[in-house]
Order: sequence, then C-alpha cells, then structure tokens
Amino acid sequence: MATTKRVYERLAPVYDLDDVMFAGAKQHWRKKIIDKLNIENAKLVLDITTGTGRAAKILSKRVKDGRVIAVDISKNMLKIARMRNRGRDNLRFILCDAAHLPLKGDVFDGVSCMCGMDTVDAPEAVLSEAVRVLKNKGRIGMLYFSEPKGWLRYLDALLKKYHSVIWNTKNVDMASMI
Ligand SMILES: C[S@@+](CC[C@H](N)C(=O)[O-])C[C@H]1O[C@@H](n2cnc3c(N)ncnc32)[C@H](O)[C@@H]1O
Repeated sequence: MATTKRVYERLAPVYDLDDVMFAGAKQHWRKKIIDKLNIENAKLVLDITTGTGRAAKILSKRVKDGRVIAVDISKNMLKIARMRNRGRDNLRFILCDAAHLPLKGDVFDGVSCMCGMDTVDAPEAVLSEAVRVLKNKGRIGMLYFSEPKGWLRYLDALLKKYHSVIWNTKNVDMASMI
C-alpha cells in the first residue's frame, strides 16, 4: 500500500482533531473557498481528497438541486465521511485515486480540494484530472499549504513537526503548476 494511503488509513480516527487544533480556522477557509465556487445553481460538483467529508457536507448543503460526488483514497477516512453525511441524498462517496478519476470529462460545474493538494503524491496529475472533469467556465477551489516566505518559515517548521503526526502534509507550488 502506498505511504500516503497507509498514513490516512491509520490517522482516520483522530484526523478531525486537526480542526479542533486549528480552532475553526480550517472550516472558516473551507467555507470561504466554497463561496467562491458559485455553485448554488450547479448540477454536479466534485470534492477531491474529501477525507472525513467536512467540505462535502458544506457543498451538499450549498447546491440547491444539484448533486455532489466526493472521492478519497482512504477507506477509513470515507467511513467517517459517510457517517458525518448520513441522510444526505445528494451526496455520493467514491473510493479512488484522484490522479485517476473514474469519471467522465467535462461534467462538473465546480471542483473543490481542501487540504489535499499538499497531501497527494502527484499534485500535477490530480490537478490535471480536476481540469479534465471540469466543464468549460467551471471553477476549482483549493486550500493548501504553499511554500512559506519570511518568518512564516519558522511557523511552518513548527507546524510540520505536529503535522508529521496528524496530517501528512508537504508544501506545494500550485501557482506554477496552474
Ligand atoms: C489532509 S486530508 C484532507 C481532508 C479533507 N479534504 C479536509 O478538508 O479536511 C487529505 C486527504 O487526502 C486523501 N488523499 C491523499 N492522496 C489521495 C489521492 N491520490 N487520491 C484521493 N485522495 C487522496 C487522504 O486519504 C486524506 O483523506
């Protein structure tokens, strides 16, 4: 089993503690980024690296008559996501690698990826899949750790120590990939 997948299979029962440690900041940013997707009238929205399904829950509440598909590579993370979202009929979870989405191209009005691009093994492949499945004029919203500058490097080093336990994160330079 690849390392990232193995890490999240193990972390799943404690992963949501990370939201507690961030004192609501992560959820605040998930909502802010989802606001920018403008998906109120969307028919189909995708959440990649959905984890325990927090962003998927926001998305499923936001789309009025649309549907949400949420994918993750970890069975144990998805187990929690399904429990969190029990009864949400417009939301479906799929166990798969976001670098090889088993989904048709050009069908989603919006794609979100929260705290995921800095986690996946192949961010370029995941971004390229997100673009492939996105409709023309659709939007992608991402929340991730970028390369820190100035004093933020010290904070980053501290966070890395903590995150090596609870969040398998690495910095990514999405701007240059985009
Ligand atoms: C830091 S968690 C983020 C979870 C959630 N999106 C959130 O906002 O809290 C990263 C998630 O990415 C998933 N993941 C890592 N590599 C993946 C891949 N190649 N395809 C799909 N999911 C992946 C992990 O299993 C984990 O659930």
